[in-house]
Amino acid sequence: MIAKPARPLPKSFHVKSFGCQMNAYDGARMGELLESQGMVAAEADDADLVLLNTCHIRERAAEKVYSDIGRLAKRGREAGRDKPMIAVAGCVAQAEGAEISRRAPAVDVVVGPQAYHRLPELIARAATGGEALDTDMPAVSKFDALPKRRRQGPSAFLTVQEGCDKFCTYCVVPYTRGAEISRPWGQIIDEAKALVDAGAREITLLGQNVNAWAHDGRGLHDVIEELAKMPALARIRYMTSHPNDMADGLIAAHRDIEKLMPFLHLPVQSGSDRILKAMNRSHNAASYLRLIDRVRAARPDIGVSGDFIVGFPGESDADFEETLSLVRAIGHAFAFSFKYSPRPGTPAASMAEQVPAALMDERLQRLQALIAEQQYAFNRATLGKSCAVLIERDGKLPGQKLGKSPWLQSVLLDGGAIGDLVEVEIIQAGPNSLQGSAKILAAA
Ligand code: 5AD
Ligand code: SF4
Repeated sequence: MIAKPARPLPKSFHVKSFGCQMNAYDGARMGELLESQGMVAAEADDADLVLLNTCHIRERAAEKVYSDIGRLAKRGREAGRDKPMIAVAGCVAQAEGAEISRRAPAVDVVVGPQAYHRLPELIARAATGGEALDTDMPAVSKFDALPKRRRQGPSAFLTVQEGCDKFCTYCVVPYTRGAEISRPWGQIIDEAKALVDAGAREITLLGQNVNAWAHDGRGLHDVIEELAKMPALARIRYMTSHPNDMADGLIAAHRDIEKLMPFLHLPVQSGSDRILKAMNRSHNAASYLRLIDRVRAARPDIGVSGDFIVGFPGESDADFEETLSLVRAIGHAFAFSFKYSPRPGTPAASMAEQVPAALMDERLQRLQALIAEQQYAFNRATLGKSCAVLIERDGKLPGQKLGKSPWLQSVLLDGGAIGDLVEVEIIQAGPNSLQGSAKILAAA
């Protein structure tokens, strides 16, 4: 990293997180850490330190960081203003390391996702003009070195598992986040208690392979069962899961634990067994469908969501048709779909038969249209029914509030207070959100 002139220690900071919920969680924890050091949160334009918490999953996400750095560096060229200290965290930091400051010399700190507890030291070093790069994956967990959770909205994230050993051939996660690690039981329960004490009514347990969580002979369903005993906690969710780690106990939890919400994000990626094999997914379309049947037998109203990749190397028209058939057979509440993006260092990036961009665009459009149709149908099925809604924030209109249904649908309400769990009648269903009736608004 290039040596720089010394500068004052930053007093204010702004964290901008890209990508997945695990990054949102890391971003929140980095913010808490900086606050514990006496720094105050500020808007990006005013902050002395801007921390870009980056995502490397697809090329477009990874490139975004460089345009942001360019914009921030420009501030230093404006009359009378200093450039903020710029820190790059997250998976781009891990994957590209020192290359980042070579490409963007305005960057002052580079810190990987397993080393961010060392941010205060790195910032101090950068302030003296020294090298501030840390992409270690230390054996000592960063979680032990982070301050206790505080100030919480109604819905909180809690990372319980990190990393991935699955090595799907398209994916950078095993390289940027490292091997699968489960946080210990006691640490998770303590953090959940702190979150609930700080006002959380819903906790979403997070992990790249959250359902692979295992510790001292316990599985994720044991964590869920323990959390369900907390009286002030009303809802529990978890994501993202891998089909091969969907244990019987977890499926049964969907039947037995009322606080576990009827929603499952279980990526399948493709409907073609040939492509699934090339992706190293170690499941096929039929085994995935059997799994969904078992989950639905345990919890018939469960909303299923997933991730799909179109245009994986070698994907033919027939392979893609199989994806559409699988999507039709599943019937989603929601799903993400992406164009395949070759990632440096992954096996798929060097496979022959890369699919032309125009064909990927066309497939993505067709898949997204089908998923949107399913999502709209799922939303319409709630019309006239009532369900519990957790109010999370203000809506755009005066007096309007926005909450979530058990199936993770956004519900707009005229009234209620943030943090309330209310019973609501659904009076309108749109493709992306629902409208609830305030008439029978009553604290549940
Ligand atoms: N290209 C496109 N999509 C990808 N994903 C992971 N790697 C890639 C890639 N190289 C998608 C998968 C995964 C989600 C988080 O991102 O669908 O489930
Ligand atoms: Fe990536 Fe596959 Fe691991 Fe998911 S299971 S993080 S897609 S390697």
